[in-house]
Amino acid sequence: MATIVAQQTFDSVPAPAMTAGPAPASTPQAVLLQTGLAYIASACLNTAVKLRIPDLIGAGAKDVDKLALESGTDPDYLYRILRVLEVSQIVTRTAARSYKLTDAGQLLRRGIAGSMADCIEWIADPLHLKLYSELKGSVQEGKTTFDQVYGEPFFNWLSKTENKSEAAVFNNAMTSISEMCIPAFLEAYDFSGFKKIIDVGGGHGALLRSILHANPTAQGVVAEMPAVLTQTKRAIAEDRLATRCEAAECNFFEAVPAGGDCYVMKHIVHDWADGAALQLLRNIRSVISPNGKLVLAEAVLDDSADPHPGKLLDIEMMAFVGGKERTRNEFQRLLHSAGFALERVISTKSPLCLLEARPM
Ligand SMILES: C[S@@+](CC[C@H](N)C(=O)[O-])C[C@H]1O[C@@H](n2cnc3c(N)ncnc32)[C@H](O)[C@@H]1O
Repeated sequence: MATIVAQQTFDSVPAPAMTAGPAPASTPQAVLLQTGLAYIASACLNTAVKLRIPDLIGAGAKDVDKLALESGTDPDYLYRILRVLEVSQIVTRTAARSYKLTDAGQLLRRGIAGSMADCIEWIADPLHLKLYSELKGSVQEGKTTFDQVYGEPFFNWLSKTENKSEAAVFNNAMTSISEMCIPAFLEAYDFSGFKKIIDVGGGHGALLRSILHANPTAQGVVAEMPAVLTQTKRAIAEDRLATRCEAAECNFFEAVPAGGDCYVMKHIVHDWADGAALQLLRNIRSVISPNGKLVLAEAVLDDSADPHPGKLLDIEMMAFVGGKERTRNEFQRLLHSAGFALERVISTKSPLCLLEARPM
């Protein structure tokens, strides 16, 4: 079964979350209800993943009563959740009370290549619902919601021992998102010319480990906060990369490891407002080799009204960390201020682009 979606890329999986879902609403009232109730669809999806409903349905179809028995849930309540998931195109009905997973639903099974279960378990979890219930005050004051509600920045809070189960959910989600994008990045960008690749804020190192596997002569460093590194080191060892990949303790606002001819950052710049982003980019600028490249993996927004997951993730940045998604021009200006020239913005088959810059 594990191979069902193993080869799927963004060519073959359904469109990203913002464009999937129910048919466009047909009346002004329906537009409002569809948008206003969207968080309930998120909560149903999150609940189904936590209950491992997609794993229990698996490759075939399953009757609601059997599913309820296996998941330890109430059959009527579970049926009503599945009815919402049907509208969201996560399951389809094979008989009156029997469901199977759609292609999108298959990606919610754990342990398969390309699984997005960890990502969905993070999105719309209780921490999200709590923060978004306080969004209004933060928009009024122009301040990060998380800091307002918890009295400290998200990454400080996450590194505390008492929050380690939430940290595990977050870090696993980041790895899941990375794994979803990695084939598209490797297809779109040639890392073969680099000797030492440094992934700044690299989490568990999923991206760098894949780059190193695809480029067997390169060395790598995952630079991360100490609280994350135990898991990063374990992942490097399990991936048999200990001789080529180091896990280095780093606060990227103070300094980043020197000696790289390629610095990669995925979903880092979007975590920070311009001042902080500038500081960390300048820290890379001060150590990157003169012919080196900086490669950012980020959503690149435009001013169109077209759907893009980055437009919602921009609000996630507002709520959690005070960062933002940026346009090409905003990236260009930011990079220029840090001493980098933006050379290319490469579209990939994922929702993220690769922005390649060189030191000026
Ligand atoms: C949004 S996650 C992205 C992780 C990874 N690049 C990925 O895409 O899967 C941001 C990462 O930045 C790290 N981080 C936050 N503040 C940091 C700091 N001051 N120094 C180093 N890493 C930091 C976090 O621990 C987290 O792993």
